[in-house]
Parts: sequence; C-alpha cells; structure tokens
Amino acid sequence: MMSRDIKRIAVYTSGGDAPGMNAALRAVVRTASYNDMHVYGIMRGYEGMIDGDLKRLERGDVGNIIHRGGTILKTARCQRFLTPEGRRSAYESLKAFDIDACIAIGGNGTFTGASVFSDEYDIPFIGIPGTIDNDLYGTDFTIGFDTAVNTAIEAVDKIRDTADSHNRLFFVEVMGRNSGFIALNTGIGSGAGGVLIPEKNTTPEALIDFLKKGARRKKLFSVVIVAEGNQSGNAQDMARIVNEAFDFYDTKVTIIGHLQRGGSPTAMDRVLASRLGFAAVEGLLNGKENVMAGLVNNQVEYTPIIEAITKQKTPSNDLLRMAEILAL
Ligand code: F6P
Repeated sequence: MMSRDIKRIAVYTSGGDAPGMNAALRAVVRTASYNDMHVYGIMRGYEGMIDGDLKRLERGDVGNIIHRGGTILKTARCQRFLTPEGRRSAYESLKAFDIDACIAIGGNGTFTGASVFSDEYDIPFIGIPGTIDNDLYGTDFTIGFDTAVNTAIEAVDKIRDTADSHNRLFFVEVMGRNSGFIALNTGIGSGAGGVLIPEKNTTPEALIDFLKKGARRKKLFSVVIVAEGNQSGNAQDMARIVNEAFDFYDTKVTIIGHLQRGGSPTAMDRVLASRLGFAAVEGLLNGKENVMAGLVNNQVEYTPIIEAITKQKTPSNDLLRMAEILAL
C-alpha cells in the first residue's frame, strides 16, 4: 500500500469517558512527537471537531496525566455529527488546520461516526478502543474496562459485609446497556451469587429457582450482579419480582452507576492504553487506515473499523457456565 505523508494528526476522545484515555493520549502525543509529527487535540470530541476547537499538543502538555481518570480533552455524545451539515463543518475545521489523519479514542458510537466520516471525506483515521464496556470486536480488552471492574468489585466487597450481617439479598446493578462484560467479570471476581446480563436471557423464574437452591443449603445471604441492560429487567425490576415470589430474604438494591466510570486507571489499563496509543501512531506511519488498534492474545492487531463496530463480541459461554457453578 502506498502510504501517505502524515505529518499533522488530530486526536480526540468521544462518547463515555473511560479511565486510561489520558494514558492513551499521552502515548499518542509522545510517539507522534518522537516521529516529528505535529499533534492537535480536539476538545469535546466531535463537538470540538465541528466548532474548530483544536489546540496544539506537545510532549509537556501530556505530562502528569497517566494516572488521571476522565479525559483532559473532555468528551461528548454529539448529535450534530449525525447530520451531513455537522460532518461538513468538521471536515472544514480539519482542513483549516491541515490535518492529514485523526486518532479517535472511544467506543462503538465514536467509531461509527468516524467510519461514516471517512466514507464521505478523505481523512483517514485510526481508532483506539476506550470504553468501560469492553464491547468492541478486535480487542480482548478495551481501555477502562479493568478499572471499572475493579471499582465495582470493591463496592461489592463492601456490600457483602452488610448482606452477610443482615442476611440480605442484594441486587447490584453495574453499567452495560448492551453488554454484560462488566457484570460477568464483577460477578466472578466478587464471588457473587448470580450474574444477569443482556446477552443471556435468565428468566425471573430461573433466578428464583437458583436462589431457592441456595436457601435450601442454608445460604443466608447473596449478592446478584445485574447489568443495566439485562434482558429480563434491571436490578429494581429483578428485586421486585423476586421479593414477591420469595419471602426468605430481605431484598435491597444498589446501583453503582457512574462511580465505575471514574477514578485512577489500574496498571493494566495504563499499560494497555500506552501500548494502543503507541500502536495507533505507528500504524498511521505504516500506512494503516480506518482500522482499530487492539490487543488480541497480548499482541497488537489492527482490525478494520467496520468489523470492530459490526461484529459482535459476546461474553464466553465457558465463563458464564463457570460463574454459575461457582455460585451454587
Ligand atoms: O458506554 C459506556 C457507558 O458507561 C455504558 O455502560 C452506559 O450504559 C452508558 O455509557 C451511560 O452513558 P451516559 O454517561 O451518557 O449516561
């Protein structure tokens, strides 16, 4: 492939913030500077791209951020970029700054926008998977997932103390509108009594049977992890249904919510973000376009962005089965 001469790149974070986005940004800026490229940071994702809100980033601008959650570039879920007029303004902004290529740090929505944009305009981009949901095909882990799971497990460890002391049944809701990775790993890592996720339909009846088995074995308390997008209902719904059918436990609900989106990234997320930020810039230098840099079996791989957003990555059935057996 003939590679273009890429000298000026723009980088942005978009969609939900994820711990490790700053570490990825640092790696992008420093790798690009090392290769004598000019880097511009786009503020507030596609909002800033449309408004021309770009600023020059040098090595020193990304110092002291590797440990910080959130994103110093800020982020947004941008409705205007869904319109052709919005994308045209974005293109004009990038041209005004002579940008040769973009690096997008975000999740499914971010890459869908980038994919439509690169079909319409001749500006290549590379994606870096940054979302706590871990729902992108083409990478074993997304940046932010490990931190979010650790935060959720810490919360469940605390809830467990109360569940145990009062013989209560807690339904703990974690994030994941369409994806159960956070719920499954939180469930396994916290030794939960059950995991309910969007990808697998567990009926309330099946859950009640499962809990009854535990009660027969004199299990006095339990914590069930529910992904917010669980098919048969969220944590509130499940608690209500189980409460009506089952008078053994005192039932409580905790929604962890945005607590699991913030905070200092774990070592795993910092290393992942550094590797993928580095790989994104090296990919551009080696002529890669419209791909996502991911880690598969601990090796960097570049997956066409269209596959990353259209192919489904689902939690493994083996892990689901194991979680169930260990919870019995
Ligand atoms: O995509 C990340 C995520 O945290 C999802 O798990 C959650 O459903 C959603 O974002 C919440 O988005 P917002 O912060 O915009 O309400």
